[in-house]
Amino acid sequence: MIRIIQGLGSARPDNRGGNMVYFCGMSPSRKCILAIESSCDDTSAAVICDGVILSNVIAAQLIHADYGGIVPEVASRMHQENITLVVDSALQKANVNLSELDAVACTAGPGLLGSLTVGLNFAKAMALGLGLPFISVNHMRAHVLSHFIDEPKPEFPFLNLTVSGGHTQIVLVKSYSEMEVIGQTRDDAAGEAFDKSGKILGLKYPAGPLIDKLAREGNPVYTFPIPQIAGYDFSFSGLKTAIMYFIRDQKKVDPLFVDNHLHDICASIQNTIVEILARKLLAASQAYNIREIGIAGGVAANSGLRKRLKEMANENDWKIYFPAMQYCTDNAGMIAMAAYFQYKDGEFSSLDTAPYVGGCKRHRA
Ligand code: KG4
Ligand code: ZN
Repeated sequence: MIRIIQGLGSARPDNRGGNMVYFCGMSPSRKCILAIESSCDDTSAAVICDGVILSNVIAAQLIHADYGGIVPEVASRMHQENITLVVDSALQKANVNLSELDAVACTAGPGLLGSLTVGLNFAKAMALGLGLPFISVNHMRAHVLSHFIDEPKPEFPFLNLTVSGGHTQIVLVKSYSEMEVIGQTRDDAAGEAFDKSGKILGLKYPAGPLIDKLAREGNPVYTFPIPQIAGYDFSFSGLKTAIMYFIRDQKKVDPLFVDNHLHDICASIQNTIVEILARKLLAASQAYNIREIGIAGGVAANSGLRKRLKEMANENDWKIYFPAMQYCTDNAGMIAMAAYFQYKDGEFSSLDTAPYVGGCKRHRA
């Protein structure tokens, strides 16, 4: 079963004057790119014209919730089922036809091999068939460039905290194309920490959004250790172990401990994850003397993280940037944005481009 969860509207007026047909490479001034994202479990397609996103269609794969994590083989089969419909829908919503495209872009990695292969093969076949250039996009860079979809946009240089199910990074962003990872997780990603903690509590996958919701009605009354890692690197694997032993010990006293204190437990877990992220970001901001701060990736949707970072922005004179919700979790809109900058730089890719793995670690253990 798929559910189309996003689809930006189609209000663009046709300024081409009637039914004129434009052939490849002959479009007048406007430059349009079709972008595809299939690195993990969301099949997504977007259309960008002259740097403006005209559509962003996302088909979520709800089936994985039944397995407690992404089943890679199922994910790639679902991408195969969804991709034609999603691409067609993105073109329709943008009111752009195939002959109006100037390039086709797709995520080449990091992600799951089978999932990436579906999107890449589809995109490369379209580029070949339409005689268009192909642009391969790095998923992590695209998360960072999601800040340039809407206003307000950060100024260079800025620091970006990229927090997803597969990655946790602090990136020094010097320009659209120059980025340096100055800190990253040494084990689990922040989203993974939410999802694995949720699993211990018996919550459905993906637990991040659910913990966020439950935490709103609780208080962070339980404390879990904050790891002391040098520099700007993160570690989250100790947290799940601490939670596991904490719950085990509490259940010995009160077998219904989780049921009776779920909101407070969630608030405490969320508070710890947020604190780990916030402390490292503050240290990086002070060391690099940068007050332009971006947050991107699925965990950027977390209300506790947003609240804490907004407080820190006030205290430290930061300007803070969050992409709109639909551009936080995996989406082709951000791939389209990255592809637009690459197109302007003439950075095209060979049709031999192979997928590269890593990152999407949310699959079932
Ligand atoms: O960026 P994303 O969609 O996919 C990856 O590239 O991994 O991030 C998905 C992750 C999942 O771990 C999910 O639990 C987490 O983002 N997530 C959240 C929230 N919404 C999504 N975590 C905490 N609070 C949320 N509101
Ligand atoms: Zn992602």
